Amino acid sequence: MNKPNDLAISATDLNDIDSNASHDNHFNSILNARLSRRTWLRGSAVTAATAVMGSMGLSACGGGSDAAAVTPTPTPTPEKLLAFTAVPKSLADVVSVPAGYTATALYALGDSLRAATPAYKNDGSDTDFDNRAGDHHDGMEYYGLSAAGAPLASGAERGLLAMNHEATTDEKLSSHFLHVNGGTTSLPRPAAEVDKEVAVHGLSVVEVKKTGSAWATVNDSAFNRRVTPLTDIELAGPVRSNALVVTKYSPTGTKTRGTINNCGTGKSPWGSYLSGEENWAGYFTRSATDNAARGDKSVVSLNRYGRSQGGASRHGWETGGSDDKYARWNLSKIGASTNGSDDYRNELNGMGYIVEMDPYDKTKAIRKRTALGRYAHESAAFSVPAVGQQLAVYMGDDSRNEYIYKFVSTAVWAAADANPADRMATGDKYLDSGKLYVAKLAADGTGQWIELAMSNAQIQAYSAYKFADLADVLVNARLAADAVGATKMDRPEWCSVNPANGEIYYTLTNNSNRTVNPSGSSQLAPDSANPRAYTDMKGSSAQNGNPNGHIIRFKEGTGAAAATSFTWDVYLFGAESGADASKINLSNLTADQDFSSPDGLAFSPYTGICWIQTDDGAYTDVTNCMMLAAIPGKVGDGAKSTLNYATAAGGNLAVDTFIGKKPTADTLKRFLVGPVGSEITGISETPDGKTMFINIQHPGENTSLANIGDPSKYTSQWPANAGYGAGKRPRSATIVITKNDGGRIGS
Ligand code: FEO
Ligand code: CA
Ligand code: CA
Ligand code: CA
Repeated sequence: MNKPNDLAISATDLNDIDSNASHDNHFNSILNARLSRRTWLRGSAVTAATAVMGSMGLSACGGGSDAAAVTPTPTPTPEKLLAFTAVPKSLADVVSVPAGYTATALYALGDSLRAATPAYKNDGSDTDFDNRAGDHHDGMEYYGLSAAGAPLASGAERGLLAMNHEATTDEKLSSHFLHVNGGTTSLPRPAAEVDKEVAVHGLSVVEVKKTGSAWATVNDSAFNRRVTPLTDIELAGPVRSNALVVTKYSPTGTKTRGTINNCGTGKSPWGSYLSGEENWAGYFTRSATDNAARGDKSVVSLNRYGRSQGGASRHGWETGGSDDKYARWNLSKIGASTNGSDDYRNELNGMGYIVEMDPYDKTKAIRKRTALGRYAHESAAFSVPAVGQQLAVYMGDDSRNEYIYKFVSTAVWAAADANPADRMATGDKYLDSGKLYVAKLAADGTGQWIELAMSNAQIQAYSAYKFADLADVLVNARLAADAVGATKMDRPEWCSVNPANGEIYYTLTNNSNRTVNPSGSSQLAPDSANPRAYTDMKGSSAQNGNPNGHIIRFKEGTGAAAATSFTWDVYLFGAESGADASKINLSNLTADQDFSSPDGLAFSPYTGICWIQTDDGAYTDVTNCMMLAAIPGKVGDGAKSTLNYATAAGGNLAVDTFIGKKPTADTLKRFLVGPVGSEITGISETPDGKTMFINIQHPGENTSLANIGDPSKYTSQWPANAGYGAGKRPRSATIVITKNDGGRIGS
């Protein structure tokens, strides 16, 4: 089920996303992006541009260079970005890419990471998932290696893919594709099933290598690695050692057991991997009498993060047995201690962070960066680093009516940190001390970043929850953001920074609870930053609110990354191309451009292209999910517009908004459509821009458990139907995309 995670916490929520690419050769990348754009705009500038790029060792020009040794340098053909022919919308069970491109499955659920683990049979009998690819591949980043296998950011033919394994396709508790007969759909869950389901979550690192023109994973590479919900992870930053994170597993509150529901990603300017923990709350349960047992403010916190007493867990893992690894999924206060050191009443406070890992070094402890706040994280996108200036990390909280955040480091950027001796120590420097802000957007196109700190009078005075200290503010960032009146958004998914100008883009995937006549506390009227409320039909089913989502962007004010004010506009509104252009299709999308529910979004640091991916359930009667390529303008390049809504009381609700310059056929184009039931996520490229890796998540997810024995009834058989792997059960997988003429992706 695509996109049901509209509800703050749904135990059956599957959605996911991915993130940013920044890091290596940042300044070259920016220059390269600018040159590419200029070359594309003005073909006559080719000579100068080529000369500069040649000196940078970058190829923005198609055409042979090998022959140059014996012949005069040929006049290169200027690269034109988005020159490909748009891919039509499609319901086919395949990956479709433009003519001249090739997409191939590379790394799927269950693929072996070491020689001792047998090939995946894909019939539900496989085990040893600690040494196999996890499920629901999501955010992903590429880390270069030299030909000899040493870390080298510019390595374009050998590298590591680090990725999130967000979740698993399930029905009635069971991850049915992982079990021979679909698994057990009632409690208690058998230990063997639970162990398998737990192990497919987390992260993986896999080496990939190009031989000739073909990419393959490297089985048994020393870099290959799994991180699961059972892996030891350090807590870092202000929450470390706080009373809120004391558990039986860590009575001193210094570590957590694993990471879960990892969704969007980020790549730090020092070359580490960042992973956002998203819908973690749904995996835990709490007894029906736990509120009274606690009798303190933790009840407010648990409710705000979606765990009301008596709520069932997504998989029932807490019933797997008496071992502590099962007990930890039960949040109930059952111990006699006063501090929680004998149970898991505080376990939820150890989840919901940005997790940092050194993808190159298994010996370095993974750390949760608590200074960045605790919520349903998606991607983490860095400001363009500037020597002597603070760094910003932009983030969103993906639940309906949640907020947009940024963290600003205390430390200022030092150029030497782009290639540090110790990446995790560099993470300590930039990510453990700083300020967390939340966004408040005004109707006039401006906005403010409001610091979430004990010094804020509204936080001190908040009546619904009494904050004790900064750690309490960070653990309960949603409550702190409530206290300061932050702007409730239409589900912030990924964000990314445009390397050409530093502007920040956020996908707002959809919101079923925007309505002109709100009732109850969860419904909201349209406002300037979330201005649409309408009905879209999917067959005979009415989808209300903002079912197609939009993409908002910010331009920082004085102070750049550390600014406390910004301006904003809406870059694109998702819509069907045939929808009313005055109320719904406000960006005038054509049939080659129309999309719904933007989720993944990342600017290529190499080409400057803004890649947009969807995780949709609204337009899926017409097309599977997709990826588009865009060349955006900038904040303020469009116009102010007013949307008028008739209210139930007979009045008019006028909503002013700011619509970015409408795209043209040269600035927005569909690049890829995925298999049935999948969402498209994870964006990463080799540093020459010539190879792209993306993830196909949960193909065939609507396949019923009752049909597990009949492959003809699977709603998708991808990637088996593309010739990849054994069995016919659909599998989440990484694909690799190359251009047949050797050019850069998106040209
Ligand atoms: Fe995991 Fe909000 O997508
Ligand atoms: Ca999603
Ligand atoms: Ca997502
Ligand atoms: Ca429709």
